[in-house]
Amino acid sequence: MTHSSNWTPGSWRDFEALHIPEYRDGAALAETEQLLGSYPPLVFAGEARRLRADLAQVAAGKGFLLQGGDCAESFKEFHPNNIRDTFRVLLQMAVILTFGSQMPVVKVGRMAGQFAKPRSSPTEEQGGVSLPSYRGDIVNDMGFDEVGREPDPARMQRAYMQAAATLNLLRALAQGGYANLHQVHKWNLDFVGASEAGAKYQNVATRIGEALAFMEACGVNPESVPQLKGTDFYTSHEALLLGYEQAMTRQDSLTGDWFDTSAHLLWIGDRTRFPGSAHVEFLRGVNNPIAMKAGPSLEPDDLIRMIDVLNPTNDPGRLTLIARFGHDKVEAGLPRLVRRVKAEGRHVVWSCDPMHGNTIKAASGFKTRPFERILAEVRGFFAVHRAEGTHAGGIHAEMTGQNVTECTGGAAAVTDETLADRYHTHCDPRLNASQSIELAFLLAEGIREEIDKDQIAAAA
Ligand code: TRP
Ligand code: MN
Repeated sequence: MTHSSNWTPGSWRDFEALHIPEYRDGAALAETEQLLGSYPPLVFAGEARRLRADLAQVAAGKGFLLQGGDCAESFKEFHPNNIRDTFRVLLQMAVILTFGSQMPVVKVGRMAGQFAKPRSSPTEEQGGVSLPSYRGDIVNDMGFDEVGREPDPARMQRAYMQAAATLNLLRALAQGGYANLHQVHKWNLDFVGASEAGAKYQNVATRIGEALAFMEACGVNPESVPQLKGTDFYTSHEALLLGYEQAMTRQDSLTGDWFDTSAHLLWIGDRTRFPGSAHVEFLRGVNNPIAMKAGPSLEPDDLIRMIDVLNPTNDPGRLTLIARFGHDKVEAGLPRLVRRVKAEGRHVVWSCDPMHGNTIKAASGFKTRPFERILAEVRGFFAVHRAEGTHAGGIHAEMTGQNVTECTGGAAAVTDETLADRYHTHCDPRLNASQSIELAFLLAEGIREEIDKDQIAAAA
């Protein structure tokens, strides 16, 4: 099969589908997928189109993409406080970035649907017992026992319900008053307030407060300018469990175009982005904005071939490339991809995932990510784009509003020894709130340097 034959929501089934579980009860699976297909869409085509337009601005160098959330959402951590806290750290990051860069920031959560995980091995061995690997709460249970590890289609329904409730709260938080810019001081979490990052944030918040008071005196207020009252917040996840994604895929009644209504933006992981992949086949046919992870093993020729398949009309905003190289590889590996994409005139958003290439096992046995390496990869990413004359357009972070100790380092200095204190992730280690805010300040600096360089070049 080639990716050029006719697309249908189910055409991926004729392609090579990796990282999708085998369900023992095929009839139960089919029944669940049919049921999901009759449920209401979670997002609307018009919203996905608006995100595409926002991302087109980013591709043109006139905005920045902020994408973040859990590595994997879980049924156990489903709680309004968790959703609110992650949302409010994203707001804080957005404020720092908007203020620092003076560019619009496109806000996208790794939330309300980020449940499925690719695994390096289909089975896990413990004490001589072999069971199916944990593939995320939408597939099976993390606990190592035979019943829990059996892929269960009913979990898809529960994931849908949780995504719907999460999205409902996110919409309320984004538009119902919580995200009003006049609340900028109140988004600081208690444990962040005391840290250096928290103090720096308060300083930015104070300056924004002053600017708002000045504008208010000039007649600009949330009543006259509704943009101050709320923000557009979008959702995203890896489109991995294709049976679920297909069931959520609907035809827009206005245009006849297909949209995957499980989230506004869907991405393809580094392990499923090869020619002939079922995941590539599925995503090429939906009209959502999409993203693709790009790691050290991706060759420039293959990247162009992927772009040909995923964005044949070279539509800006359609495709975001998320570079995930590792702090020691980004400056050697990324330029050849950036150069080639630029030489071919392809419009993409370049975003940086500084998380997945910097995962190590600590002496304590915990999977962790040294914060210094995360920052180093971000610096390298900006340096590459400055050198190539391209726009460093976004960040993709695994982060949470919880006060976790999962990544070492940062101003609050999580150490190998203290990782065990609050290590709660269901998958990869996440930045905590103060580390996320520190990261946002570094990003704002990087964007400023890019703008300064462009202005010097324009004046010369
Ligand atoms: N609507 C604008 C925006 O989203 C301004 C804004 C309102 C905002 N609330 C916000 C910006 C919260 C960042 C964070 O950019
Ligand atoms: Mn991850």
